[in-house]
Amino acid sequence: MSNNVERATAVAAAMADIRAIDADGINRDAVELIRRRLLQLAEHSDLFPWTDFPSDESRDGSTMYLLSQDQDHRFALYVQSVKDVTEAPPHDHLTWACIVGLEGEEINRRYDNVAGDGPPRVAEEFAVRPGRGIAFLPDDVHSIHVTGGALNFHCYGHDLLDLPARNYWDEHQQEWRTMKVQFPIIDARS
Ligand SMILES: [Fe+2]
Repeated sequence: MSNNVERATAVAAAMADIRAIDADGINRDAVELIRRRLLQLAEHSDLFPWTDFPSDESRDGSTMYLLSQDQDHRFALYVQSVKDVTEAPPHDHLTWACIVGLEGEEINRRYDNVAGDGPPRVAEEFAVRPGRGIAFLPDDVHSIHVTGGALNFHCYGHDLLDLPARNYWDEHQQEWRTMKVQFPIIDARS
């Protein structure tokens, strides 16, 4: 099998398992199962080489490649490729989310005090790197911080471009605001 066919087969198998986990209902245990399934997919790191997912510096340092998505916009799997530095402020997802490492390191901060009363508080800091991942429920809030480059799976219950505006903490304005994802995503489905 060519690398592309092998990659598509491995991705399809993982997404089939993730659909089945989701169908039983989403809670902490379910997103933990999704996280473990994506860690298994990431073990095939030869199928996801950095050379197939080059980072484009034209945006904010982060480039998103779409690997899989259903017709109805559910179950979106991306590779996020960061050449050097990128950041995302504290935000929620309105759907479950899971990040698993392929190369490099992505610092995730998980927050509490996210009910809209004052700034969010860091509850936990977790380094996503090869062999490690983190999962979130729809209302969980995290921020991401990459220096030195990283390649990761980002998987969501729903197509990022199709989600309504999500909540994020605007540090400058010191308030919660909403923003719809509008950045370009490269379609890398085979
Ligand atoms: Fe996020």
